[in-house]
Amino acid sequence: MEFPCLIVNLKNYLEGSGDRVKMFLDYALDLRDLGVGVYVAVSPLDLSRYLYGDYYRVVFSQVFDVVDYGSYTGHIPLKRLLDLGVKYSLLNHSEYKMPHNRLRDLVDAANSLGLETVVCVDSVSEFRSLIDLGVRPSAFAIEPPELIGSGRSVSKYKPETVVEAVGLGNSYGVPVLCGAGVSTRDDVDAAMRLGVRGVLVASAIVKADDPYVVMKSMAEVLALFT
Ligand code: G3P
Repeated sequence: MEFPCLIVNLKNYLEGSGDRVKMFLDYALDLRDLGVGVYVAVSPLDLSRYLYGDYYRVVFSQVFDVVDYGSYTGHIPLKRLLDLGVKYSLLNHSEYKMPHNRLRDLVDAANSLGLETVVCVDSVSEFRSLIDLGVRPSAFAIEPPELIGSGRSVSKYKPETVVEAVGLGNSYGVPVLCGAGVSTRDDVDAAMRLGVRGVLVASAIVKADDPYVVMKSMAEVLALFT
């Protein structure tokens, strides 16, 4: 992954589904010229439609939940993602939590097979538990659930949580991102000043009248921290 980064999480918003996905991916590719990592976490239902050309550079899976092919009805295997060419995935988002032991096994397998992961944590205490368990993704993302979708940015409403997470990440050499309520370029600037290496954003971009304007304004702030 490239840092600093903006990960746009399309979740399963209607505005980020189907044919609209291409628009976000094109914006992400365009904004990489600013010298920052811009990625788009795409719903599993849309993912395989957009695995061609340069899109491989910006497509994130939102999840995977078993390692191998097999009798796993409804699951998303890591090996299938890799065979499709996916390079990055979120894991353990607040809206798709996982048992920690399973998470460790998935991250270990991803590390050994070459898929980069961003593991979300809902608190510093969850972050510490995963560190203690030996979970070592490409980055952790601290996202207090009560601020998700609220329009109130974690960087302004829970700065102490972000600072604590960054300190823990630094002690173990793992980059930390933050998300939840990040809505403006000022929110991104505040986050970066707390020491994170990037932000995750959903509603403020996906539901915007002009998502490109918001993505660009945030990516421009990130570019100031390269
Ligand atoms: O993964 C990012 C997401 O949970 C944050 O959502 O809508 O608060 O930007 P939102």
